[in-house]
Amino acid sequence: MQSNAILCGDSLTVLRTLPDDFISCCITSPPYWDTRFSGFTDRLGYEEDYREYIEHLVQVFREVRRTLTPSGTLWLVIGDTYASDDELWWAMCKEVPEKELKYPPALQQGFKNKDLIGIPWRLAMELQNDGWYLRSDIIWSIPNHRPEPVRDRPVRSHDYVFLFAKSEQYAYHGCIEDSASRKTVWEIPMVTNPSINYAVFPEPLVARCMCAGSAKNEVVLDPFFGSGTVGIVATRLMRRYVGIELNPDYVTLAEKRIREMAQKEGKCGCDISKSMLYPCLNVKI
Ligand SMILES: C[S@@+](CC[C@H](N)C(=O)[O-])C[C@H]1O[C@@H](n2cnc3c(N)ncnc32)[C@H](O)[C@@H]1O
Repeated sequence: MQSNAILCGDSLTVLRTLPDDFISCCITSPPYWDTRFSGFTDRLGYEEDYREYIEHLVQVFREVRRTLTPSGTLWLVIGDTYASDDELWWAMCKEVPEKELKYPPALQQGFKNKDLIGIPWRLAMELQNDGWYLRSDIIWSIPNHRPEPVRDRPVRSHDYVFLFAKSEQYAYHGCIEDSASRKTVWEIPMVTNPSINYAVFPEPLVARCMCAGSAKNEVVLDPFFGSGTVGIVATRLMRRYVGIELNPDYVTLAEKRIREMAQKEGKCGCDISKSMLYPCLNVKI
């Protein structure tokens, strides 16, 4: 691949247009499953049934596996949620405008009120069944986790980072200078960006995965690019990147963040002329 690229479109559709075996490492965080919204049933993350959400992601990551080199790895960041039909819980998420909430609140299919849904492990098992080698479950411990007004269980303060490999033997560059990355609990503060509705990747988390999963000049992929943190870290660490993002506003934001960082640090950042809007794909491999 000649250059970095940010491709605007649905990740599954765009991935199907990419060639086999050229990505060294995929680091990504898909939208978490959230059924509180109304009217978005065709969108990833808003499926009525969690099995549809998981099947959707299995298809996306099957395409990711095809684009990985035989020694490639996938680092998947994913969080869990609780089932509820309680109006207060549904309205609790302050960033959700009330008019967009599904009303009346309905329990997520297949669960009882208050059930922990277990999305990360359900997804991990399905990816394993689909052919991935599940190599590690890393707890991302979040010291500045979101507050939860609960009195009958511990407050959630972690997400998962799963390490999957395409093959039994795969590239793993242990970061000798970073002994914490060799253990399975990573304490890294969460980052928020007011311009993006989703949680943004903390750069140290991405850097740990990228150092272990790729070497200089290799290509890393994020099929849910958001504000482009994987592109920023790739540029800093002298990797190349391919990002896929559905929301054109986030593509613009990612380009801006990468360009500003590159100008500030004198790095060879995103070549904006090579950023492409799907379906005008022109990726040179
Ligand atoms: C959790 S955010 C990723 C945030 C990103 N890691 C960052 O550092 O900013 C998930 C992203 O996936 C995007 N997304 C949702 N559905 C998508 C789809 N079908 N194809 C591509 N991107 C999608 C959302 O717009 C959102 O930006």
